[in-house]
Amino acid sequence: MERTFLMVKPDGVQRNLIGDIVSRFENKGFQLVGAKLMQVTEELAQQHYGEHKERPFFGELVDFITSGPVFAMVWEGENVISTARLLVGATNPTESAPGTIRGDYAVTVGKNIIHGSDSPESAVREIGLFFNEEELVSYDKTMSTWII
Ligand code: GTP
Ligand code: MG
Repeated sequence: MERTFLMVKPDGVQRNLIGDIVSRFENKGFQLVGAKLMQVTEELAQQHYGEHKERPFFGELVDFITSGPVFAMVWEGENVISTARLLVGATNPTESAPGTIRGDYAVTVGKNIIHGSDSPESAVREIGLFFNEEELVSYDKTMSTWII
């Protein structure tokens, strides 16, 4: 089954949005397979956001994601990577639709509440950066037959 990496950023943790965000993905029909509250190190931040190394806001991005604890998660489900991006909403909250996480809670692109993998390759890479295989749990829920 497809897996994606989602992370409540420091602003989402500080604003008490972990529970709401977890609920949205549960209610949608996706399954949580791993989660932890953690402090991102400078090194991990630079690896995670490596694709943005040359961008002018890279320093700000690393400072922000290391500014407080994040809630890192792995979610599983059919088409979870692209569907989770829809639930997350557009990168810039001035363009994210109401009903999406960023559309409902974020105001600026620099503090946009949540990260979601943007492709199957990113998902594999990001899950590997944040989690060991032993931290991820495969299990069946009887309810899943009512979702897929
Ligand atoms: P992530 O899920 O966090 O990766 O966001 P995204 O995939 O929707 O956007 P992208 O990967 O292009 O950018 C990564 C993050 O960089 C965004 O979520 C923003 O927080 C931040 N970012 C993007 N553009 C800007 C910018 O112009 N200024 C600042 N300060 N941050 C930016
Ligand atoms: Mg991205």
